[in-house]
Amino acid sequence: MKNRYAIALVVLLFISGSSQANRQLASRNGCMGCHADTEFDAPPWPELAMKYEKYQGQPDAARIQGEKLRKGKLFKNIKAHQKLSPTNTTQLMQWIIDGAN
Ligand code: HEC
Repeated sequence: MKNRYAIALVVLLFISGSSQANRQLASRNGCMGCHADTEFDAPPWPELAMKYEKYQGQPDAARIQGEKLRKGKLFKNIKAHQKLSPTNTTQLMQWIIDGAN
């Protein structure tokens, strides 16, 4: 019985990992304000996707790059980056690595 729940959970996670859900996650975390609007000098999603494409197929890349983003070490100190939860950051980074569609 426990196994069934585990399977259901995996399926759910898989569904919620779809790009639509990731866009919503980005939206909820305020990412769209800067990265989907060219008024600010934040790189737009397709540009980020190209930059992070090289991490495709590297299992831990999303987490590692996400940590860098969160800690604000690589980039200017941007609040929206820093207040992300580790889980959300990894998911969003994976979305970007996969093409940010
Ligand atoms: C206040 C505006 C702003 C918001 C909101 C914002 N960003 Fe950014 N982000 C920037 C800017 C500006 C840069 C570029 C920083 C630099 O190059 O020094 C950046 C850089 C990045 C980078 C790295 C780009 C690189 O050079 O590798 C990623 C990834 C990223 N943002 C993801 C996100 C995500 C995910 C969110 C939502 C939680 C988000 N950003 C919200 C402004 C913002």
